[in-house]
Amino acid sequence: MEKKFYVTTPIYYVNAEPHIGHAYTTILADFMKRFYAMLGYDTYFLTGTDEHGDKICEAAKNRNSSPREYADMISGLFRKTWKDMEMANDDFIRTTEERHRSVVQGILQKVYDSGDIYFGAYGGYYCVGCERFFTEKEMVEGMCPDHRKPLSFIEEKNYFFKMSKYQDWLIAHIQENPDFIRPERYKNEVLSMLRSEELTDLCISRPISRLSWGIPLPFDDKYVSYVWFDALINYVSALGYPDGEKFRAYWPVSQHIIAKDIVKQHGIFWPTMLKAAGIEPFRNLNVHGYWKMDESKMSKSIGNVVTPSGLMNKYGNEQLRYFFLREMTFGLDARFSEDLIVDRVNYDLANDLGNLINRTFNMDEKYFAGEIPVFYDEFPEDRPRLLEKLRECGTRYIESAKKFQTSTGLEALWEFIRVLNKYIDEKKPWEAAREIDKRRLSSMIRNLLEAISGVMILLSPVLIHSSRKVIEALGMKGFPADVEDAFTFGLLESGRTIQRTEILFPKIEIEKEGETPVKKVEKTEARSGKKEDKGDDAMEGLVDIKDFALVDIRVAKVLEASKVEGSDKLLELRVDSGLDERTIIAGIAKFYEPDYIRGKKILLVANLKPAVIFKKKSNGMLLAAKEGKDGRPVLIEIDDSIPVGSRLG
Ligand code: ME8
Repeated sequence: MEKKFYVTTPIYYVNAEPHIGHAYTTILADFMKRFYAMLGYDTYFLTGTDEHGDKICEAAKNRNSSPREYADMISGLFRKTWKDMEMANDDFIRTTEERHRSVVQGILQKVYDSGDIYFGAYGGYYCVGCERFFTEKEMVEGMCPDHRKPLSFIEEKNYFFKMSKYQDWLIAHIQENPDFIRPERYKNEVLSMLRSEELTDLCISRPISRLSWGIPLPFDDKYVSYVWFDALINYVSALGYPDGEKFRAYWPVSQHIIAKDIVKQHGIFWPTMLKAAGIEPFRNLNVHGYWKMDESKMSKSIGNVVTPSGLMNKYGNEQLRYFFLREMTFGLDARFSEDLIVDRVNYDLANDLGNLINRTFNMDEKYFAGEIPVFYDEFPEDRPRLLEKLRECGTRYIESAKKFQTSTGLEALWEFIRVLNKYIDEKKPWEAAREIDKRRLSSMIRNLLEAISGVMILLSPVLIHSSRKVIEALGMKGFPADVEDAFTFGLLESGRTIQRTEILFPKIEIEKEGETPVKKVEKTEARSGKKEDKGDDAMEGLVDIKDFALVDIRVAKVLEASKVEGSDKLLELRVDSGLDERTIIAGIAKFYEPDYIRGKKILLVANLKPAVIFKKKSNGMLLAAKEGKDGRPVLIEIDDSIPVGSRLG
């Protein structure tokens, strides 16, 4: 069979701005597209906005806007957010577009002509928020179970779709295709809905007298289509149904992604609508859980950043992608808090992956002048074991991701990353460096570099930029055409010089009550358990003079000082270090005014790894003495006669 892959997100209502729930589904779809592209598939990724119905009319009215103006504005916001987040969607459909309207009308006419749509009277309890009627069984104390608002009884003549006719067919289809709806819990949910009660027919129209913001029925212009009958059709209208080339190519391999809120519409309405229209069912419905906000935590550390773009600007796009894809177990609810993002970035990206790459590149620089060293067959240095582990973990990653289980997949890859870090800790290449025969060391570093290239290829659908940066730094022209190559340890060329770029995943420091940023660094480093180049003395709290000499402390002059917006503890300082001009963030704002510190000479740790503190990059650290029990910082001021740039030692 031809390798093709078609993935969709729900089309989002334009009654509110994009939030993190929307962002998650869209990131997942984007990941799936890039992942299948990596496997050599021809892919198509669709998202868009759902713009008709009562809900949108109400939202527009509340803002003194017309439905069209309002829909244009919010739809534009979705489109911009996805662009800012570098989503690789191939299309963005709006239900107000002509290409969609004509397909909806075509399908309505077809189903009407075949006798599956009839005219009848209907009285029922209606919820505007849900855009649907509720049966008495579904109501809770006369109210909508979701919105907790009283339902209004509406009686009117309407058009109905004979959904009940397809109940037995749908049950059989789900049973014959066990992963039609996945994970299994949602398949069971749909099956129990189908088995426990007789399907009622679906009311698919609204009289224009009550609602005009919709697609007119082609056979009765006094009615518009019910918003769900209109919206679901986007998945085929965007492909140019019925005659479009894309429809022929991609519909047979369609993968829908939704959250559990709209399982009934996608698991029951949509397949029966397709059946009635003579269109084959979608391939799979993939259902994820909800992100639940941790309110108390949010107010403390999230500040006012809750929009996806805000989070992206604060933490970085790749960091956010990794967090979402790693944190949520597919099908289950997950907790959202910024603290969890920080932990994932600091532990997984900075400590595990970032350190692996940085340590390996550092050793390569130190021992091989930055060139890719040769692998010697007579010193395999565990190559077969590493290769086998890469294949095992990589295969688990691929198999899980194919089933949308990104968290399980990434966990498997990180197992391999941790094996590589352990390999360094146990093999201690710096000890091999002291041996006469450097061929062992050469093989070791080569193994690590090859393993890193394999990992970064596999991670390319998540870390969309840094994966490329690393493999290009290693001298590769781009990603291999065949992902199998990631498992070979055969992509690098001996003798090429590694083109290092900046530190890939700097640790994030956030200000928290009762916890200083420095503490956070200690915590994460302790967890990584890295002790290379440290002898037993380190255990006793003593450092070697060589180690002390590694810290570059210099006299620097403060050129500019200002408070960091939104923080009462931090000052942003522009300093002249004698080497360069740079920005550092210092936690002394409670004790020192910017005016006081401007023009002063201070001590600067000049070769500290950059860190992001409160959205700002800090390139070094100012030294202060800690006074009293609470560790109040006291600035170490330097006499003006000592020149800027003087090194301490
Ligand atoms: O339902 N956690 O649009 P919608 C995870 N227009 N995902 C979430 C979420 C959360 N807390 N909140 C929202 C509609 N989502 C219809 C769809 S499709 C033909 C029509 C995501 O704007 C999730 O994908 O209410 C959910 O299914 C979707 O947003 C609902 O978006």
